[in-house]
Amino acid sequence: MTHAPDRTSDDTPTDAELAAVFYCTSDELPEGKVLSKLLHRVPVAVARHEGTVFAFGALCPHAHADMSTGILEPGGGISCEMHLWRFDLASGRCTMMDDAVLPTWSVTEADGAITVDLRTTTNGTGR
Ligand code: FES
Repeated sequence: MTHAPDRTSDDTPTDAELAAVFYCTSDELPEGKVLSKLLHRVPVAVARHEGTVFAFGALCPHAHADMSTGILEPGGGISCEMHLWRFDLASGRCTMMDDAVLPTWSVTEADGAITVDLRTTTNGTGR
């Protein structure tokens, strides 16, 4: 008996694989921490801020600074360390520049693991 391959020949992840991509353990993301890394070649940052976990683009749209070095701000924001553009963590929108936005993704925390749904962004910015 043969089975259909789970992956395409170029190792593109399946929708099922993209639906819940492991990012880190809950212990690795304490309150006030921001992390960044590539998930299936997509630069993704996660932050735990004011009790909520967020997933958003790891590269600032201005000059591609790593958002994990950003500064978490009261009220659910993060400021890029390089030139201090401020972004809303939930929407990804820059509060200083109308056209600047970070992609955002659905993120889940369950059983001590944080996973990101990479199938589509939650703010319409594409994957
Ligand atoms: S690189 Fe982020 S504000 Fe300039």
